[in-house]
Amino acid sequence: MESNGFEKVCKLSDLREKEGKRYWIDDVDVAVYKVDGEVFAFSNVCPHQHAPVMYNGFIEEGCIVCPNHGWMFDLKTGSLKATHSGLDKYDVKIEGDDVLVKVKKKKDLNW
Ligand code: FES
Repeated sequence: MESNGFEKVCKLSDLREKEGKRYWIDDVDVAVYKVDGEVFAFSNVCPHQHAPVMYNGFIEEGCIVCPNHGWMFDLKTGSLKATHSGLDKYDVKIEGDDVLVKVKKKKDLNW
């Protein structure tokens, strides 16, 4: 189901606190986390070595931490701690028990 660019990825009840899940929206690889009841969605691809592993990371100090080499990305912004680059962060909307995510497709980005 699609509305205003948002697409349903799962049920809120499918997400476990601080455990990532991986979803695909068209060709976009997405990591979704629930932290303190709030849902966050990011690109699943770590910018370091372009590894599709962010769904398998962990949450620490308000950051999602890449499981490979420990790069930390701010949960609120997706920014790499202490720099301006980082993960693409996507808008999340909760409708009832449905989790909807609006991704930025590669062709929408200016790079
Ligand atoms: S692949 Fe993510 S920190 Fe190295």
